[in-house]
Amino acid sequence: MQVGIDKIGLFTPNKYVDMVDLAHARNQDPNKFLIGIGQSEMSVADQTQDAVSMGINATMKYIDRIDKDKVGLLVFGTESGIDQSKSASLFVKTALKLKPEVRTFEVKEACFGLTAALMIARDFVRVHPHQTAIVIGSDIARYGINTPGEVTQGAGSISMLIKTDPSILALNDGHSAYSEDINDFWRPNDSRVAMVDGKYSTQVYLDFFTKTFNDYKKEKNLATKDFDALIYHLPFTKMGLKANRIAVEDQDEKTTEKLQNSFEASKQLSRHVGNIYTASLYMSLLSLLEKGNLPAGSLVGLFSYGSGAMGEFYSGNLVPGYEKEINPVADQAMLDRRQKLTIAEYEDVFNTALKDPVDGKELTSDDAAGTWYFAGTQGHIRQYKQK
Ligand code: CAA
Repeated sequence: MQVGIDKIGLFTPNKYVDMVDLAHARNQDPNKFLIGIGQSEMSVADQTQDAVSMGINATMKYIDRIDKDKVGLLVFGTESGIDQSKSASLFVKTALKLKPEVRTFEVKEACFGLTAALMIARDFVRVHPHQTAIVIGSDIARYGINTPGEVTQGAGSISMLIKTDPSILALNDGHSAYSEDINDFWRPNDSRVAMVDGKYSTQVYLDFFTKTFNDYKKEKNLATKDFDALIYHLPFTKMGLKANRIAVEDQDEKTTEKLQNSFEASKQLSRHVGNIYTASLYMSLLSLLEKGNLPAGSLVGLFSYGSGAMGEFYSGNLVPGYEKEINPVADQAMLDRRQKLTIAEYEDVFNTALKDPVDGKELTSDDAAGTWYFAGTQGHIRQYKQK
């Protein structure tokens, strides 16, 4: 029985910062951000977009094309949680009008959260082949104004439907996982911005990639040349480029070119959206589907990394007709609709979003009709509305 990704939806908020503007404001050479880090733009979430609202908006991209009664599981991965107790997924379940019998909860392990959700969903669907599962990753990457991590911020969500006989990516059995209790990146409960040992985090990422990729190839008796694409969690696109360079080391020209081209395609969305933590790897997948021109059957290797730290490598094959399930024109239109912020405006939006709104004060959204948003709290209960 094949189980895998049947639908995929991306949402990113309606504001962005241009990296050249940011470089000028921070007295940096723009090429450090554009080439050295590999980012052109980053989406910015104002106070009305949080992990929940973005997750709803990502799922709205396909909800009308699925049988909602078959959804038996909804798992939400995030490191931008909005409550210490109640799961983000319950708000989503209400907004999407899923049946009360759905099993739903939130998972956390930094940027690994959506992969964790996906693996739980895969196992659930194997045991319940007549049911489906929705998995959501949704995050706002915040390091703070004028920090080295600032250029690697972003905001957005990916939602996927997991089922038998999937239309996009059939997941292969097996995986290689590796974890270590380390402090490369973390966010204490009282902080809205992440703490990070930046250089150390990039080294651990590469070490975990090397280990899990090699272990996976050994376990499955595969060679690097057997992969048609390798895609990565992309905290910034240069990070994936470094991992891809390791992957193609000592490979023949044809394999190197193939994996470089597919990596180029997979990083395009990330270059304009920025880091969306749990959802970043799956935005790489969407970008590959939209811009990679890969034939059905192509073998795609996926590297997931969550600081703290957890790494996992697994693979899937593209399903014939997967192109029908994606909408590159609509995704591009979503990026194009974004309003470019000046650096002063971005700093204002950033600082406002660090605080909770005054309880009882209703927030209004400036996004398009149909968009879900966080409308403030009433009696300290979060309110979500559709514009
Ligand atoms: N033209 C072209 N390139 C330039 C340049 C110029 N004028 N000036 C500098 N560069 C290059 C540098 O040579 C360097 O390239 P290499 O990495 O290939 O050596 C690159 O630009 C970055 O320069 P620095 O290393 O000096 O950058 P920095 O010290 O300002 O910080 C960072 C970079 C550590 C990644 C920082 O942005 C950061 O802390 N980011 C957040 C942490 C992060 O994303 N870690 C990733 C792994 S952890 C993870 O994946 C989980 C997650 O999502 C957070």
